[in-house]
Amino acid sequence: MATSPHPVILAPSLLGGNHTAFGESLQLVSETRLEWVHLDIMDGHFVPNLSFGPQLVSDLRTQSDLFFDVHLMLDNPHAHLDAFIQAGADQITIHLEPDYPVKATLERIKAAGKRCGIALNPNTPAEAAEPFLALCDIVVVMTVEPGFGGQSFREDVLPKMETLSRWREEKAYAYRLQADGGVTTETAPACLSRGIDTLVAGTAFFKSADKEAFAQAIIAQ
Ligand code: DX5
Ligand code: ZN
Repeated sequence: MATSPHPVILAPSLLGGNHTAFGESLQLVSETRLEWVHLDIMDGHFVPNLSFGPQLVSDLRTQSDLFFDVHLMLDNPHAHLDAFIQAGADQITIHLEPDYPVKATLERIKAAGKRCGIALNPNTPAEAAEPFLALCDIVVVMTVEPGFGGQSFREDVLPKMETLSRWREEKAYAYRLQADGGVTTETAPACLSRGIDTLVAGTAFFKSADKEAFAQAIIAQ
């Protein structure tokens, strides 16, 4: 059993909403009195899917003061950083797997006054994150292979949560720990008991008939 120093947050992913009505999806998040919204940016290279870009983030920014948690699933996040900073991201997470200057990119996000973090695919070991943890406001533990919503939660990733929780405690790191992918009321408890404090839910949130009840069921686990 690992605990987090941070209050539990649920961040609905707009990828799971109706793509003809992102503003309405954003409104649904606001009405559920949640604080964060998760924005999945996909390039069709690093992940086999395309989603949306900085213009959408910028337009949504004018409609909401929610915390914009922008997840860059890009081969070259450093090349698009300014666009998402300008668009109004509050936090930007970048993947460790592509070959680009990760540390310098994290530092650029921080220098712009935004929160920064790294994301690890299911098969990427926690050890890959070690050089960057001191810089991170958040570490994203992908619990699905990135690229699509609606996938099944991967239990094989649970030990990685335990490792990152332990390191956070042992080394007095301040990062939040986020689970991203396949999060439901069934899979959330296993994450929370391992020190996850930030849960992303796309499909489960937008499919739920009572979003307030869903959010409470996830957070109050
Ligand atoms: C997957 C994305 C996730 C996904 C979550 O690549 O990073 O944020 O949208 O959606 P669900 O909750 O449907 O797995
Ligand atoms: Zn995501």
